[in-house]
Formats: sequence, C-alpha cells, structure tokens
Amino acid sequence: MRQIGWLLVAAVMSGAEVPRTWTEAAVKAAEVPLAKLSYSPVHISEQAYYATPVRTIYKTYPVYHPKREPAGYMEWLKQQEPQAAFDASALKTEADWVRAGELVFNSPVSFGPVFFGAAEVRNPAFYEETGMPVAKDGTIPFARWVVRKKGEVELGSMGCNTCHTRVMADGTVVPGAQGNNPADRQGAWMLRRAAKFAPPGELLKRLREFGKQFEVPGLVDDPNRRAAEMSFDELLAAGEAIPAGVTARAHTSMLLPPQIPDIIGVQERHFLDHTGLVRHRSVGDLMRYTTMVQDMIGRARYGDGPASTRVGMRYSDEQLYALGIYIYSLRPPENPNKFAGIALKGKAVFEKERCGRCHTAPLYTNNKLIPVEGFAAVVGGEVSSLKVGTDPRYALQSRKGTGYYKVPSLKGLWYRGPLEHHGSVATLEEWFDPKRVSAEHVPGGYQGPDGKARGVKGHAFGLKLSEGDRAALIAFLRTL
Ligand code: HEC
Ligand code: HEC
Repeated sequence: MRQIGWLLVAAVMSGAEVPRTWTEAAVKAAEVPLAKLSYSPVHISEQAYYATPVRTIYKTYPVYHPKREPAGYMEWLKQQEPQAAFDASALKTEADWVRAGELVFNSPVSFGPVFFGAAEVRNPAFYEETGMPVAKDGTIPFARWVVRKKGEVELGSMGCNTCHTRVMADGTVVPGAQGNNPADRQGAWMLRRAAKFAPPGELLKRLREFGKQFEVPGLVDDPNRRAAEMSFDELLAAGEAIPAGVTARAHTSMLLPPQIPDIIGVQERHFLDHTGLVRHRSVGDLMRYTTMVQDMIGRARYGDGPASTRVGMRYSDEQLYALGIYIYSLRPPENPNKFAGIALKGKAVFEKERCGRCHTAPLYTNNKLIPVEGFAAVVGGEVSSLKVGTDPRYALQSRKGTGYYKVPSLKGLWYRGPLEHHGSVATLEEWFDPKRVSAEHVPGGYQGPDGKARGVKGHAFGLKLSEGDRAALIAFLRTL
C-alpha cells in the first residue's frame, strides 16, 4: 500500500469521523471572495444541501475501442444485473477507502452524450477525427459502461476520470494527471454531425443557452456574453480551438477556458483552481470543492442574480471523503529524466534566475496568490507582492475571478501540458521562447477564437537566457 498524504494518515488510521461537507461556516470560510466582492457566490443552506438526493455509485465496466472490444462484450453487459458498488459500512482500512474512492473517481454523473456518447465511442472514425487517445489495453479511460437497469447498457461520463486522466504516448494511463481527451473538439464534432440532420436554428439556440452559464453577473463588458451573438459556425470554431488538456468546465469560460490542472500532489497545495478560488486546508475543503464544481455549481446565487431552483444530485459525505483519500494517494509515473548532465547546470540557472521566489523547493510553489494587473489587492501573508503580468482576463472576467493567479507547482512538467492558465503554450521550449510574448506569435496550445497570432504575455522570467542556459533549465525542470 502506498503512503497517502500527511494530512490524512492520522485521520484514516484512527478511524476518525468523516468531515461534514456542507456547513454554512465551513463553505463560507473555504472560498476566496471574488474580485468584485458583492458578486461572490452565495451558496445554498446546509439544510437544502443535505435534502439533495445522494447518487448511487453503480458498478461500472470498461469501454473499449470498437476494434479492441472482446467478442460478445456488449451482449455480456446486457446480461448483468445493476449493482451498487459503494458501501460505506464495509470500509475499514485505508486501502478500503482508497479503493472505494477510485470507484467514485471513475463513476459517471452523466448518462447521455456530453463530449461523446455511446454511438461515438463505438465509431472508429470518431477516434481518428478527434484524436481521442486509446490506452495500451484498448480501453478508453475517460468513460465507463453502466448498467442501471438490466438489459440497458449506458455510456456514463463526466466523472473525474473524463478530464483528470492522461493516456501517455506509450498507452499507459495516469489517473489524476492533466487530462488529454480532446473534449471540446469532440463536442464540436458531434454538433457538426447533428447539424446535418437538425434545423440549424435549433442547435444554435441550444448552444447559446449553453453559453449563458459562463456569463458573469455584474460584469460590464463581459466577454462571455459574446456567445449570445456568435453564429453556429463561430461557436463550433470556439470549441474546436480548445486543445486536449484545456476545457470549458462549468463556471469557467468558453472563450477563456482554463488548463486542466494535474491533481497528483494536490494535497500539498493551499489553493485550488488557477484563480485560487477555494482554500485547501484539509480533506474537508477538497470535499467541499468537489461538490461545488460537480453538483452545486448551478445552485449558488451571484450578487443580485436569481436564486436557482435546480436540485439535481450530490455525493454522500462518505463518497466525497473516499474520493479525497484516493486523490491524495495518487503518485506520478516514474520520471525517466534523471538529475544528471545538463540538468545539474539547469538547477544553477533556476537558482540564478531566482525562480524559487515563487516556485520554492521542495514543492516548487510558495503556495501564494499573485494579484493580476488591474486588481488592487492587499499584499502580505498568502498574497505575494511580486508580479507576473500574464493575461488577467480569466482572473477578472469569469465566475472564478478572484483577481489572482496562484503560483503553480512545477512538479510533473515532464508528463503534462499544455501550460499556463489557458494552456496557451504547448511545451517548455515555447514557454521560455522570447518570441512567445510578441503579437505575431502563434501559440502552440490554446490559441483562442480571436485569430491565430496572439502573444502569450507576462511571466518574463527566464526569457533572456542564452540558448545553452535555456536548454539546461528545461532539462532541470523535466526532472521534477
Ligand atoms: C469537464 C472536465 C472536468 C471534470 C469532469 C472534473 N474536473 Fe476537476 N478541473 C477541471 C478544470 C478545467 C479545472 C481548472 C479550473 C480552474 O482553474 O478554474 C479543474 C480543477 C480541479 C481541481 C483543482 C486543482 C488545482 O490544483 O487547482 C481539483 C482538485 C479537481 N479539479 C478535482 C476534480 C474531481 C475530484 C473531479 C470529479 C468529482 C473533477 N475534478 C472533475 C476539469 C474537470
Ligand atoms: C513572481 C513569481 C514567479 C517567478 C519569479 C517565476 N514564476 Fe513561474 N509562474 C508563476 C505564476 C503565477 C505562474 C502561472 C501564470 C499563469 O498561468 O498565468 C507561473 C507559471 C510557470 C510555468 C507554467 C506552469 C504550468 O503548469 O502551466 C512554468 C514552467 C514556470 N512558471 C517556470 C518558472 C521558472 C523556470 C522561473 C524562473 C526562470 C519562474 N517560473 C519564475 C510565478 C512565478
């Protein structure tokens, strides 16, 4: 059994109680206020939270690429009885909790087509045209087959696995790493197909409706409101512009979508999300974060906006706790880049450039928030007085807009990407290329719907290095 995070070892081993996810005081204390204070979310009450029905975690089955599926698999699935797979009363040891958490991680919350549906995962052309990666064993780790009613095999997705799983070039699956399923491109692929059969006005209406969730109440000149005037083709192009590793998650933005963070090692981070919206002081905060983003998202009220009447579903406290423990147990794949050769020189460059002011070893983050241009913050404590100068829009013009970006950890850079809060940059070579900041630069990652050339501004650290020092620095970063 691998060791789990220090926050938890004591708690799990002593059989300590599962934290209560939703108390008004705990929820209030967990969130960092938005830059526009009066529009910070007001969450539902403890009573309303616990009145929400708990979702059943069903037994699920792997999805295979159509050419790799065992003979008779679908027929066999049709014979299976529905089975609940999560029983909190049976969880005794740390290993039991971790295993149960893995079930929750892979358990779907949607049973219809979202980025893809049952028809798409059974269509070989879908893989070729969207670039959906397939694991070495022929499975697609981003979704699962589920039997909720005997004889009906449903494709389930939108569990944590859909976005937080990476298939490496050699086909190994790394749970928790920055996901690499090209989700938004897949969504656009499905809509282009659907447009051949449906009246386009109908789909356009639905897409604009979808786009509305990103609008930020109380924000003047909200870029997200542009979706309401975009044509069908423009909206699909916005989806197609989003590469694997970046996604327009609920309450983020279709036009300013965030990079999917690597959640391996999250137990060492004091803030969650690029904008540091949620504090992370214990597993209880991770539980609160999870339920907020998966289930409570549509239910909070923003400023004088309307209160939602939506109910939906939620995870139980035990499911959230198990999920938290599982996430804390995740470890990176073995790093093939050894700390030797030019990487040694790269460490000296890292020190000379004083990267450690923010990316402080051994976590390679000082866990601080950096105020963006245009946000007057009180510095001190967990708010840094240093500046980074990257594109401030996501920190000011989204529902997660705290006015800050947190300092990300540099661990695991060798297996993830694209980088920066929008995933604008494909590689470390591009991040440290002085041309990156010029207006003529064509970003290698997320380009944005405004046109191909766009400077990825800010974070000028390490942009003036000699070629040799740059290569050494990059070699060092790949050992972390
Ligand atoms: C549709 C894709 C998607 C799904 C599904 C999803 N996430 Fe995420 N997750 C994201 C994106 C995108 C972000 C970054 C959001 C931001 O920074 O504003 C994120 C951020 C996070 C973070 C913050 C990490 C950090 O260091 O900032 C955690 C923790 C997390 N997700 C856990 C989960 C868990 C647990 C689940 C399943 C219950 C889940 N996510 C499901 C896309 C997804
Ligand atoms: C003043 C604080 C600060 C200093 C100094 C600093 N960084 Fe950063 N770094 C940040 C912040 C904040 C981000 C995230 C910016 C964003 O996404 O908008 C970041 C992002 C990065 C990323 C992209 C990480 C990812 O996961 O997307 C890399 C790589 C990086 N920094 C390396 C370095 C190196 C190497 C140095 C020294 C040459 C350095 N940084 C100096 C604050 C700093």
